[in-house]
Amino acid sequence: MSWFEWQDAPAGDYAVLGDPVSHSRSPQMHMAAYDALGVPWVYRAVRVPVEEFDSAVARLESIGYKGLNCTVPLKEAAFRWASETDGTTKRIGAANTLDLKTGQGTNTDAPGFMATFHSGEPVLVLGAGGTARAFLVALDEAGYDVRLWNRTADKAYRLVDELSLSAEVVLCPDLEGVAAVVNTTSASLQGEPLDIDWSRAQSGALAYEAAYGRSPFLESARAANMETIDGLPLLVEQGALAITFWTGLVPDRSVMMDAVR
Ligand code: ATR
Repeated sequence: MSWFEWQDAPAGDYAVLGDPVSHSRSPQMHMAAYDALGVPWVYRAVRVPVEEFDSAVARLESIGYKGLNCTVPLKEAAFRWASETDGTTKRIGAANTLDLKTGQGTNTDAPGFMATFHSGEPVLVLGAGGTARAFLVALDEAGYDVRLWNRTADKAYRLVDELSLSAEVVLCPDLEGVAAVVNTTSASLQGEPLDIDWSRAQSGALAYEAAYGRSPFLESARAANMETIDGLPLLVEQGALAITFWTGLVPDRSVMMDAVR
């Protein structure tokens, strides 16, 4: 899929900004959704280094872009750019969707996660980075019993404190008695397995991966006979919610899924 440096990006309607952004499946997914809606919009992938975020957004706005998705490492900069955000997004402190016409920002990862995650309790969340923040706030607001494990335990304690979560920090990612384990770490992106004793997984428990692409986490979970959900349902849902945020239109999720699978 082609992508552009922000200085060279041609005119368009919507875009995903990230650094890197070359791996993104969002352009093919959004273009399929627009096609099915019968609208002529163009969605592009644009690389933006974090320190150039505001300049890049100003340029894209000046050449006609109406809305942006922002991915790693730009979600905090996107939150700061927005002049208005909803309560959940404020609590997360990161936005993945901006409306350039109104200045509004939102985080569709949190509702996107809740729409694609169906599980009992307790839920074990792995990781304490940006993705974990959105998921933990969503789980907290939905009243889930949550355990949080992070390789660097200090960061997990700080997150619970900062976000006023009722989650319990655990020092070992133990699957015993857990209904679902949610991987938000970037270990999969680096192709690294997590140090988990899969033999302790409860039969019928769910393993949910936040990222799409190859996942050693899901490979191990499948081998342990767990139910699994990969990162594609979340990709589709957060993208569909972004389209509705920008336009009020409700896109066809199955068309979007077919475009990224
Ligand atoms: P994102 O915004 O995508 O969530 P991030 O903010 O860079 O990414 O956070 C990455 C998370 O993955 C962190 O929780 C990190 O753990 P540390 O806080 O200990 O660094 C976790 N992570 C990355 N590589 C990991 C690995 N090989 N094993 C376990 N956790 C890992």
